[in-house]
Amino acid sequence: MALLSLQGVTKSFGGLTAVKNLTFDVEAGAIISLIGPNGAGKSTVFNLITGIYMPSSGSIVFDEHAIEGLKPHSVAARGILRTFQNIRLFSHMTVLENVLVGRHARMRSAAWDCAFRTPFAQKEERSSDAAAMELLEWIGLSRFATEWARNLPYGMQRRLEIARALASEPKLLLLDEPAAGTNPAEKIGLMKLVQSIRDRGVTVLLIEHDMKLVMGISDYVHVLDYGEEIAHGKPDAVRHDQRVIEAYLGKGA
Ligand SMILES: Nc1ncnc2c1ncn2[C@@H]1O[C@H](COP(=O)(O)OP(=O)(O)OP(=O)(O)O)[C@@H](O)[C@H]1O
Ligand SMILES: [Mg+2]
Repeated sequence: MALLSLQGVTKSFGGLTAVKNLTFDVEAGAIISLIGPNGAGKSTVFNLITGIYMPSSGSIVFDEHAIEGLKPHSVAARGILRTFQNIRLFSHMTVLENVLVGRHARMRSAAWDCAFRTPFAQKEERSSDAAAMELLEWIGLSRFATEWARNLPYGMQRRLEIARALASEPKLLLLDEPAAGTNPAEKIGLMKLVQSIRDRGVTVLLIEHDMKLVMGISDYVHVLDYGEEIAHGKPDAVRHDQRVIEAYLGKGA
């Protein structure tokens, strides 16, 4: 049984069909990539999975439960976390606080526990701080823990957004072009990070524009163009697919 399964998912905006009859599975423990040219529908797929959009038709099943139509916070509570194509951090919070926001989803103290700072709430707060610091250490940001998020170099902000998502202990992490706007060295670092995330036991669905970049790390690749899947397979097969080459380089390539 796949961890995530899309069956015939379609999303139309007025006359435009952004995603058309898309079907695919994500097996637990894999790195699955979604690639394709600008406007292919990749981010829309993430918005459908995470409850930002409701599919026009089709079903989305996660961990054996239908999730299409659930609100984003309910999808997150079930274990699907994401990052955005354009970084969305709490820029006026510190690096550590950003990660603690992510941890919060996993804390069990009731509101009155927090208000009265009961021993349970205090203990949970301490272990939460420790877990957040451990995560920052792991991702290479611990020396920036008390910095404001907005003061971090861009590539580090990308990492912080991933750390915040990981802090909620997701089963499935959706990364929307995590390396967008970074320099070549940072890009390689981020792709290595994606592999380490999978090695931590988190399944990854990755959107990346740069075909070369994903080929080295993906177990399986789905290629979209104008909302439709034009190819899928292991990286080597997809790389040599004529429709994929045409979609990226134009007909006659
Ligand atoms: N809320 C919306 N309303 C209308 N059209 C939308 C909406 N969201 C996306 N679209 C359209 O759907 C299509 C797919 O957009 P999407 O952002 O999913 O593409 P993408 O593959 O992520 O592209 P990019 O590589 O540029 O990020 C585009 O034509 C886009 O303009
Ligand atoms: Mg996009």
